[in-house]
Amino acid sequence: MTTPQVPVLDASTPVFDDLAAARRRRSAKWRAYPADVLPMFVAEMDVALAPPVQRVLADAVAASDTGYASALPELAEALAGFARRRYGWAIDPGQVFPVPDVGVGMVEVLRLLGAAGRAVAFSTPVYAPFWHWVAEVGAHPVEVPLVDDGTARLDLDGLERAFAQRPAAYLLCNPHNPVGRVPDPAELAALVDLATRYGVTLVSDEIHAPLTMPGQTCTPLLTVPGAAEVSLAVVSASKAFNLAGLKCAAAVSASPRMHAVLARMPEDVRWRAGHFGVLASVAAFTDGDAWLDGVRAALADRFDLLDALLADQLPQLRWRRPQAGYLAWLDCRAVGSGDEPFRRFLDRGRVAVEPGPKFGAPGSGFVRLNVGTSAELLADGVARMAAALR
Ligand SMILES: Cc1ncc(COP(=O)(O)O)c(C=O)c1O
Repeated sequence: MTTPQVPVLDASTPVFDDLAAARRRRSAKWRAYPADVLPMFVAEMDVALAPPVQRVLADAVAASDTGYASALPELAEALAGFARRRYGWAIDPGQVFPVPDVGVGMVEVLRLLGAAGRAVAFSTPVYAPFWHWVAEVGAHPVEVPLVDDGTARLDLDGLERAFAQRPAAYLLCNPHNPVGRVPDPAELAALVDLATRYGVTLVSDEIHAPLTMPGQTCTPLLTVPGAAEVSLAVVSASKAFNLAGLKCAAAVSASPRMHAVLARMPEDVRWRAGHFGVLASVAAFTDGDAWLDGVRAALADRFDLLDALLADQLPQLRWRRPQAGYLAWLDCRAVGSGDEPFRRFLDRGRVAVEPGPKFGAPGSGFVRLNVGTSAELLADGVARMAAALR
């Protein structure tokens, strides 16, 4: 095997892979499909690690520093610093609970909220594991579709009807995957008001929050007035800094009431976080701002490029430019319903996107395309999609 090229360490400009570099990766994205398929599905970016992250991991390997994670207080303090700088969010490091990843964090929080046997609500279309997490704790899902008028806002009337049934929790995707929307502060305030009135705990998955488009910020749920009493957040550096395989995230509370919930987290959960995940997250949260801003700018460029490529090669598709993340939610209903567009792109174009129905019934005829890659690979992906329809 050839040794991967390590990109320049002190660049704050992110380095995206060419195809050869991307194909050297052995992560799920690059192993799930045959070699002639271009993978643009799972949410991994084809980007070299941020230099501070590369350094801390290289140093750990050199020192054979591969034991169990010791996350506190460093992770909590680094996260608090990041949250203060990026969103003006004052996190109390004493209310940060390390978990292995966001999925585990969401599941453990649902367990602590006593969700087993009860309803858990969320807004669709949404990241498929929302259903899996609810099933894993023995709860049942209540789906409240986002408003289908092109805005993809939270349906507050629908949520009020759902909350009146007293679900154990409402899972917020903030920003929302797959539509890429950042809920506005007024919408979140209305959500908090409903949660308070109906006694429903809000659990906010904020994994995509650092990846807002340039000039935009995400409102962390716990910064909304009144939210701290009724809400918890699960955050991670993993999506923004491409660390998913290293296993580190954190559940956060901001009131004595919600602290008491997280304080019942089984001690072993913390021990399951990855040591490299903790080291990488601390480095990312502490020294990763410039690189992160470079990624946000690069992703904005990719969305510009996608807009031009779609207009030119796939005018029958419709989409709304996301406000955050690197996922484009493409309306392919002119091509087919259900997962027909996904199948056609895969079978005839040899490009793997995510089939819309995975994200719930409103995803019929949609696909989700990952643009967290180089301009060249994005152009290749769209060309394959266009070829599939010719
Ligand atoms: C909204 C959302 N939550 C959670 C995850 C998964 O996070 P983790 O790998 O930390 O479990 C993803 C991954 O793409 C995601 O998009």
